[in-house]
Formats: sequence, C-alpha cells, structure tokens
Amino acid sequence: MTEPWTVKYRPKRLEDIVGNRKAREEFLKWLQTRLSHKGGKKSALLYGPAGTGKTVTVEAAARSLNLDLVEINASDKRTSQVIERIAGLATTQSTLYGGKRLLLLDEVDGVNLQEDRGAVPSILKVIEDSAYPVVMTANDPWDPKIRPLREVSLLIRFRRLSARECLPFLRRICELEGVKAEEEALRLVAERNQGDMRSTLNDLETLCVGRTMLRVEDVAWLAWRDRLKGVFEALQQLFHSRDVESARNLVEEVDVDYETFFEWIYENALHQLKNPRDVAEAMDRLARAQLLMTRMKSRQLWSLLPYALELMTAGVALAGKGGVGYTQLKFPERLKYLSASRKTRTLLSEASKSVGRVVHASSAKAAREYIPYLRFILKAKREDGLRIAEEVGLSKEFLEGLTA
Ligand SMILES: Nc1ncnc2c1ncn2[C@@H]1O[C@H](COP(=O)(O)OP(=O)(O)OP(=O)(O)O)[C@@H](O)[C@H]1O
Ligand SMILES: [Mg+2]
Repeated sequence: MTEPWTVKYRPKRLEDIVGNRKAREEFLKWLQTRLSHKGGKKSALLYGPAGTGKTVTVEAAARSLNLDLVEINASDKRTSQVIERIAGLATTQSTLYGGKRLLLLDEVDGVNLQEDRGAVPSILKVIEDSAYPVVMTANDPWDPKIRPLREVSLLIRFRRLSARECLPFLRRICELEGVKAEEEALRLVAERNQGDMRSTLNDLETLCVGRTMLRVEDVAWLAWRDRLKGVFEALQQLFHSRDVESARNLVEEVDVDYETFFEWIYENALHQLKNPRDVAEAMDRLARAQLLMTRMKSRQLWSLLPYALELMTAGVALAGKGGVGYTQLKFPERLKYLSASRKTRTLLSEASKSVGRVVHASSAKAAREYIPYLRFILKAKREDGLRIAEEVGLSKEFLEGLTA
C-alpha cells in the first residue's frame, strides 16, 4: 500500500517546512537555550490552526539537534498515567547513549478533564521537574482548562499558510509525482484549504490520482466540497456495508441526485473492490441499474426507480465479498467529460452559426463541411486560416479547440 502524501512528503528538515519562519526560528532558539541550560522558560507552547506544521516543526528540530523525541498525545484517555510513567524517565535518566531528550505533549487542549482530572497538574509537574525541554502544541491556547500550562510557557504562534507560500511546495510534489499542474489550479487548491497544509495535500492527492495533468477545471469541483464530503462518506459506507437496508438508505442521505451518485459508485467500484469477480458482479448490477433508469425515462415508468436504486447501492455493496481496499476515492471522470463535451458542443454550435451566416448555409452544413475545411487551412497555412476565422468572427477559444 502506498503512503498518503501527507506522510510521504512530511518535511524531515526544518528548512523544508513551509511558512512560519519566525515561529520556527523562535522555537529553535528557545530549544538551544534550554539545552545549554542558559535560562529561558521551561516549556514552550506552539499554538495555531490545524495543519500549519506545529508537530512537524518539533519533530524536525529534534532530528536536526539529534535529540531523542518522546512524543505523547495529550488527548489520550490516560494522559496522567502515561505522563507519570515517563516523568521519572525525563527527570533522571539520560538516554541509552547519553544523548538528550525532548518531550512533546501534543494537543494539550485536547485533554479530557472529565476522564482524566489529573492531566493538567501532572503535565505541570513534568514541566517543573524535567531535566529536558518540554514542548506542547494546541490549536486553542486560550482554552481555560490549559491556562496553568499557558502561564508557565513561552507562547509561539503558528499562522495559516498563505497560498503564495504553499505554491512552490505543491509544485514540487506534482513534479515528483509526474503531474503537470497549472499554476492557477494549485492556487485554487491552496486557497480553498485556507492555510491548512494537511487538508491541502489531501485534496491535491485526491485530485491527482491517475492523472498526468491537473487543470483549473479539474479543480473547480472543490467548490462543492462540503457536499462532496457527504458523498465521500456515503461511498465509504456503501463499500463497507454488508446489509441491503443501510446501503439502500444512502441514496436518501447523500446530498447529490441519484444519477450523480450512480456516477460516483461506478467510478469507484473499480478501484475499491479488490477481487475482480466482485468488480464484475458490481459492474453487472450497475449496468442493469442503468438499463432500468433509461427505460424508466423513455417510457415514463417511474415505478422502476426503486429497483434501479437497489441494484446500484445494495447490489454493489453485496458484491464486495472479497474485501475492500483503502484507496483514495476518485471524482467520476464521466461527469467531467460530460461537462467538458457540453462546453465543446456549445462552442461548435456558435461557430457553425457564424460560419453558416457567412456562407449562406445551415449551421449543420457549416459544421459538417466548412469547419473541417477551416481546420485543414489552419493546419496547412495558419495565417490564411486565422484571417478567414477573423472575418467569420470565430472565437479564440473555439480556434484553440479546433487546432489542439
Ligand atoms: N508548514 C508545513 N510545511 C509542509 N508540510 C506541512 C506543513 N504543515 C503541515 N504540513 C503537512 O501536514 C501534515 C500535518 O502537519 P502537522 O502535524 O505538523 O500539523 P499541526 O500543525 O501539528 O496540526 P494539528 O494542530 O492538527 O496537530 C504533515 O504531515 C505535513 O505533510
Ligand atoms: Mg499536530
């Protein structure tokens, strides 16, 4: 199984991390001061929005200073127990090879005081007693429950990353993945995620699956993201569900119409189902579902709809006997082709009308006989072709499509 891009491209060195340079430098300076026992606060609290590089900064700093990083997720149920266990370790022992340690208490604003009342005092105690620097991270440092921790710490703020900061990083990843991406497309992905690099990378990966080009129009559908979240969830449930009832209900729960949902299922069944026999079975049921839908529309036989829906949901869910893979869900190619070809058709029909007007022919005849000839002229003698096109009043967009 391949790793997700957030893991694959997780920065290893401090200088590979995008943005927040001041915060990173401040943290490194504090860390070096603490390690050389030259004063400074005993703990640092890195805070800011999700996916801005707080945790990776700590990990990369530990690596670059050769520190043994002890990482504890503070939102764990038994934080105080874990902390007490490692507290002794932190105060007394050096590492096996005499190296130095750094303690990371990740996501301290996630401590659950109901389940673990002693969490904050025990973290405070570790900060007091520790011979090693202690660093914490939080999304919301103003959360009252972590006030005692905030008060003893050096606060370092991480800000959302700007699209401009993210672009070079995204561009490099696309290069490494062999995807030619339009600058504007990458900018859209970054902007939509508002400085959260984790979700930016997740989106970019979803968009790039199985393609070598990423254009603006491939990204435009991100605008539907909130609706798509629902579609993603529904598809996950569909491929993992084993009973007719819950699979069938998904059509009502999902926020797209049943024909769009059909396209999503059709596109993803192929990638999600591991066993070729299951895929064949799923495709067979989808084909029958589509047959019913076509018949239903042409003969107004609406009573066929429930059968079609049942085949495309429960029929596919029950086909997955041989297991389901954990691959990224894909946006249905056919939906993209449909909208792309709709655009081409509109351009062609406008152009045929213009040509028809000039040559006194119907637009059908213009499309059939004159436009192919124009294409030929454009290829053979571009300047002549362009002059004719201008005279006829053809749009630049249409000409680009014609000679592409
Ligand atoms: N500044 C960045 N530069 C490059 N990659 C980043 C950056 N920030 C986040 N990432 C990517 O996002 C993933 C998550 O980053 P990280 O765990 O550091 O976020 P965080 O700020 O700790 O978020 P959270 O508050 O949710 O814990 C990383 O694996 C990495 O792929
Ligand atoms: Mg984190």
